[in-house]
Amino acid sequence: MSVRRLAEDQFQPAAFAFSDENAVWAEKTIQKYPAGRQQSAVIPLLMRAQEQDGWVTRPAIEKIADMLDMAYIRVLEVATFYTQFQLHPVGTRAHVQVCGTTPCMLRGSEKLMGVCRSKIHQHPFERNAEGTLSWEEVECLGACVNAPMVMIGKDTYEDLTPERLEEIIDAFAAGNGASVKVGPQIDRHLSSPEGGPTTLLGDVAVSRTWVDKAPTTAPADGAPVPPSEAARPKSTDAETNASLKTPATSPKASAKNAKAAEVQPLSGTAASEPAPKAAPEAAAKPALTDKNRPAGIERPAAPDDLKMISGVGPKIEATLNEIGIFTFSQIAGWKKAEREWVDGFLNFRGRIERDDWVKQAKALAKGGEAEYIKVFGKKPR
Ligand code: FES
Repeated sequence: MSVRRLAEDQFQPAAFAFSDENAVWAEKTIQKYPAGRQQSAVIPLLMRAQEQDGWVTRPAIEKIADMLDMAYIRVLEVATFYTQFQLHPVGTRAHVQVCGTTPCMLRGSEKLMGVCRSKIHQHPFERNAEGTLSWEEVECLGACVNAPMVMIGKDTYEDLTPERLEEIIDAFAAGNGASVKVGPQIDRHLSSPEGGPTTLLGDVAVSRTWVDKAPTTAPADGAPVPPSEAARPKSTDAETNASLKTPATSPKASAKNAKAAEVQPLSGTAASEPAPKAAPEAAAKPALTDKNRPAGIERPAAPDDLKMISGVGPKIEATLNEIGIFTFSQIAGWKKAEREWVDGFLNFRGRIERDDWVKQAKALAKGGEAEYIKVFGKKPR
């Protein structure tokens, strides 16, 4: 974490003024707060100043302090506390904030910072030769579940690999940052499980039926009843999302909200509400006769314990046995097409690659647990 100070004098402009449009917005924002509480507007005003000039200058801090009748030091304290405020000139197209806190660090943030060093500048807060990019390390940005991640502007880019971050930085450098998908960069929705839902896969309608049939009035004995759907306000998810809409100053955020507004409510009880969308269908299971199905063998007298491979439990082991897979060396020899066939057969959505079954199986086939520990630094399951 870097020390947060104002930029040196050579970078500071002589004065700051909100544009006409922003000045009107600032006045309205200040009026939202009760008399004597105007200083509550300090963060929105600092943020608007940053959006206007690209970073928070000392004259901006002084101007906002005057507008809110605050001591300069109080506004400076706020500006230097939150890493969302840039106190130095940053890249005009992207300032990449790499989270370096423990979950992200354990999931590879050091490598992401390596990418920033090689693609932007060796040192944080220094801009690239064109002045379009800069980077810094920050503390937790609240997306730990999808670590490692970076924030650029108001958007987060999660579940990153060094390669994906390189692509993202290249897109921003070329002025195409708006085209980059925000949020998780892998097959997951928000912070849902990777590859799709893993629980509550059954008949949602059953649970909704239970809810919809809940009594709407107190029972005869007067015992309280939980609020039913009928008692809830009939707001739709679209309305909820609309109420959370961010200002029009962020087209990408607006696009995201528009997309979120397409999400259908679960119940669909009101006549005007659209019917729920069907869950995406699982990919078709590959045929047992497919040419890419790995060759099976007869059950040997002493089959390997495939459960030693991380990602294989008793049920998966039984399924593998059913298709003639009994040994580590069989799995160790799978080619890409064969791995894809098995992955599809198990509806794993890439888990075989992610868990690297082949590498695990190779180690176990070569030297059992001892070799596994040598390769992975830990015991197999
Ligand atoms: S630790 Fe990185 S987002 Fe929380």
